[in-house]
Amino acid sequence: MIILGIETSCDETAISIINSEKNGEKTLIKVLGNQLFSQIAIHAQYGGVFPMMAKRSHAENMIPLFLECLKEAKLFYEEEKELSEEKKSTIKTILEREFELAEKLLDLAKDISTPKIDAIAVTQGPGLEPALWVGLNFAKAISYLWNIPLIPTNHMEGHIFAGLMKKVNNDYEIITPEMPTIALLISGGHTQLVLSKSLQEYEVIGETRDDAVGEAFDKVARIIGLPYPGGPQISKLADKERTESGLNAEKKWNLPRPMIHSKDLDFSFSGLKTSVLYTVKKIPELTEKIKQEIAREFEDAVVEVLSSKTRSAVEQFGAKTLVLGGGVSANKEIRTKLAKLAEEINVTFFVPEISASTDNSLMIAVAGLFNYSNQKPYFGEILKADGNLKLN
Ligand code: KG4
Ligand code: ZN
Repeated sequence: MIILGIETSCDETAISIINSEKNGEKTLIKVLGNQLFSQIAIHAQYGGVFPMMAKRSHAENMIPLFLECLKEAKLFYEEEKELSEEKKSTIKTILEREFELAEKLLDLAKDISTPKIDAIAVTQGPGLEPALWVGLNFAKAISYLWNIPLIPTNHMEGHIFAGLMKKVNNDYEIITPEMPTIALLISGGHTQLVLSKSLQEYEVIGETRDDAVGEAFDKVARIIGLPYPGGPQISKLADKERTESGLNAEKKWNLPRPMIHSKDLDFSFSGLKTSVLYTVKKIPELTEKIKQEIAREFEDAVVEVLSSKTRSAVEQFGAKTLVLGGGVSANKEIRTKLAKLAEEINVTFFVPEISASTDNSLMIAVAGLFNYSNQKPYFGEILKADGNLKLN
């Protein structure tokens, strides 16, 4: 089965084409095309993602990326054809709010043959709604245009699948984890512990009550004067500090470990961020060295809380597998410490390769593949982007 995956939930426009094959119990994935445009440079000047600018950039880049992806996958063939007035007008209606994208798509559609794709998986949510709509409406439009089944997909389920993609040469094998599984999902918008008693059955057993981990990283970075997105920057500084001062250096700054002793599996990171702010306010001169020390203490605090809650979740539900996912799973210290924890408590540990940790469309194509049953091409029914789409 050939699946097109489309992801536009935040500041990455991503399109992939995969070919999946069943080999007995095994699912093998060949990546035929994989294109991603990061909007970091656009948002960096404002210190965060502006939803309406993200939307505009997704709409501008969608067709060029799609075309590039088709070419890469060798699914691009020129063929001149007439589109009926009815088709043209329906596409304009579907892409009513992305008017220029409609024009570009109609322009493209009259010059290429119908791509040999079996299904289109697209992120429906959660994420920034204006951004999500672009991907979803584009997916609806090409689903209708070429009569290809459409699979609305949950971004967080995508992050879980990212952890289950094992690289074999240039392809991937999808791991079937031993159940129950606990997934720790940490991204810019989410911090969740998810229990699965069987494949694709999800129960959120803990989540943040305020800021997500990635959000806290980004805000702390801003407080100490680092550019957006701050997560990787904080991580770099913290690493530098560990190398320079050693693992047992005396602590100069003490940040709280919020909710580490609470009985539930919830998190809170907004107080931790505020603590950094108050700490920094009291320092007359914020030197590079002090920034490093604070970055390290902040990262240590996050790692301790994440580890402690994950340990409780695994023990409470007798989990056999731990999956780490979401953009913050690119963080070296978090990967290392959670791998260590998994070893200690005797669960199998899976984490995406760094490039698949942050938002991408491969994970959406794979999640779509597992959600495909007998989806139909889009035909005008109501299908909305949902910024708060739940996992279930
Ligand atoms: O999953 P993701 O790409 O987008 C959302 O779905 O939110 O996650 C993005 C988040 C950002 O907050 C970014 O700062 C953070 O992941 N992030 C990191 C690292 N790489 C990305 N945080 C800490 N350390 C990193 N190395
Ligand atoms: Zn994400």
